[in-house]
Amino acid sequence: MNLNEFQQRRLTLLNKMGAGVAIIPTAPEAIRNRDSHYAYRFDSYFYYLTGFAEPEAMLVLIAGDNPKSILFCRDKDIEREIWDGFRYGPQVAKEKFGFDEAYSVGHLDEMLPKLLANQPDLFFSLGADAHWDARVTGWLNAVKALVRTGVSAPESIQDVRRLVDNMRMIKSPYELDLMRRSAKIAAGAHNRAMRFAKPGMVEYEVEAEFLHEFYRNGAQAPAYTSIVAGGANACTLHYNANNAVLNDGDLLLIDAGCELDGYASDITRTFPVNGKFSAIQKDVYEMVLAAQAAAIVQAMPGNHWNAPHEAALQVLARGLIDFGLCQGTVDSVIETGSYRQFYMHRTGHWLGLDVHDAGEYKTQSGEWVTLQAGNVLTVEPGCYIRPADNVPEHFWNIGIRIEDDVLITGKGNEILTKDAIKTVTDIEKAMADK
Ligand code: GLY
Ligand code: MN
Ligand code: MN
Repeated sequence: MNLNEFQQRRLTLLNKMGAGVAIIPTAPEAIRNRDSHYAYRFDSYFYYLTGFAEPEAMLVLIAGDNPKSILFCRDKDIEREIWDGFRYGPQVAKEKFGFDEAYSVGHLDEMLPKLLANQPDLFFSLGADAHWDARVTGWLNAVKALVRTGVSAPESIQDVRRLVDNMRMIKSPYELDLMRRSAKIAAGAHNRAMRFAKPGMVEYEVEAEFLHEFYRNGAQAPAYTSIVAGGANACTLHYNANNAVLNDGDLLLIDAGCELDGYASDITRTFPVNGKFSAIQKDVYEMVLAAQAAAIVQAMPGNHWNAPHEAALQVLARGLIDFGLCQGTVDSVIETGSYRQFYMHRTGHWLGLDVHDAGEYKTQSGEWVTLQAGNVLTVEPGCYIRPADNVPEHFWNIGIRIEDDVLITGKGNEILTKDAIKTVTDIEKAMADK
């Protein structure tokens, strides 16, 4: 916990607001079944601005000449703490997390209409959560009911998340330290899974292996539902049953990352279950690896968001033509989109507190955003060859994706996930050495 970092973020947002009130609630707890909950995960916007991980909390920012940040959180409650664990309570939270004021979340309905009175603007993310939409509407109506006493209600509602999105797109040194650590844990977990896998195992046995490595290194959770896809399963992009037997001669695609103190890593590796690529698997793998290398070269400051994708497409289109899987020229394959039979997703996304992180990909005028130092994105080309009449049988069911997490630096980039074994030689060596 770096108090100064979080206070600075709130100050930056207060300055962007200029005047008015921001309301940023955290995520609700979610029931899994009956009275069992899912493991709690805070809202990323709330956490980004507070560092406060408890449920039932809300941040209120008052911008203007006398800017203030106010936390609403659960009261201390010895009885509940015996069952559910420690809670800070407003008094301690105020000191520890550096708020100007803190109150019980039970006081929201009484205090929010007062805080909203005579404020020009409300900054709130309407539509994100029906519960909070209704509560905020109730508070606004309570203010409006007082107009005859000379009180005015905010005239406009602006999406507070848009302001924070721009901040979240540029990672601070503090965030990058966490992201490097998250990436390192996930890279080690992939290497461990690769060394462990062999024919006859079930996909979930390999999953258990990398989950073990996540948790024993301090990651709190997988950053998203892990994909452990042997053979044809790799051609189902969001496969996550993870319960099929791994066959000798098949490839295994693992897309898995962990979450460390809120920050996601997101890695995909594909390797042969038996430790040795067949000639055709190797050819397709080398094509995807070359596409990824070309994309990573383009991940540099000043280039637009789509430059890595375009570079990957050039290599993939060339390769698909050379394999006889697509017909025509590189340009025509890209223009007609015939490559989409084998590559139907994009080459990456922003990465941070959310695996598909906050931030725009296009400017308001419709152009791709420009990559800047501090951006973190994934670079993840792939090739998925399903059985089809226009595909020779020896290609069938080869599904390959290679995904790394890349930080844009002042001059180029840094691959945060560089420790995850990736070349054909290194994979075969690691799997032979086990
Ligand atoms: N694992 C999610 C993604 O690669 O986008
Ligand atoms: Mn990804
Ligand atoms: Mn992924």
